[in-house]
Amino acid sequence: MTIKKLIAGNWKMNGGLAANEALLRALLTGVGQPSADVAVCAPAPYLAQVQGLLAGSPIDWGAQDMSAHEQGAYTGEVSAAMLKDFGCRYAIVGHSERRQYHGETDALVAAKAQRALAAGITPIVCVGETLVEREAEQTEAVVKRQLAAVIHAVAHCTSEIVVAYEPVWAIGTGKTATPEQAQQVHAVLRAQLAAATSHPERVRILYGGSMNAANAASLLAQPDIDGGLIGGASLKAPDFLQIVAAAH
Ligand code: PGA
Repeated sequence: MTIKKLIAGNWKMNGGLAANEALLRALLTGVGQPSADVAVCAPAPYLAQVQGLLAGSPIDWGAQDMSAHEQGAYTGEVSAAMLKDFGCRYAIVGHSERRQYHGETDALVAAKAQRALAAGITPIVCVGETLVEREAEQTEAVVKRQLAAVIHAVAHCTSEIVVAYEPVWAIGTGKTATPEQAQQVHAVLRAQLAAATSHPERVRILYGGSMNAANAASLLAQPDIDGGLIGGASLKAPDFLQIVAAAH
């Protein structure tokens, strides 16, 4: 049995009350009974709005980041328990934009993944190499190091995470990894998961980085690509819905 794919939108720092409502209403109108799991990861201030519009629908929602701490004096941080209060099923952790612009380390990302699982939230753990790392043939070493930190922290819960392979050079650039390039890395990640859990096939490994309506089907046809983490194209309902339809 193959696992149900997951198509998750990452809105990043985009949207507003009116735009979110229009987007979500269009998604609800078009989504039907998807064969894949579908989710949108919204900016934290809008999670209540998203919950209000999506509760009881086939579309789940999640956050784009969360604190590694449980609670307390961490000004500006949002805890896993708070996300849970607003019905979040997922939280992206370790997105390359957070690693790059906010100095998030492998250890911090691993702590966030652990904290998410403890609160009953599925972490979508992002890994991926920069262009410089790819050109230096460091791709495998980088993604394995990033995933190893998380596996070490979550241990026997490894089969409950979602992994997203997002080559940094492909994010928001229109340069997608070819299906073969992506599959190659996904196979490496699957093998690493197999060494850590008896159910590596249960872990969804998403591809992210300029996935769009035109290239989704060929990426999703690869044996180890179990879904997508979609940035830009998740802000346009017809495009996002086409990606969802391509996932079966
Ligand atoms: P993109 O972003 O689809 O706009 O390339 C993907 C991501 O950063 O999750």
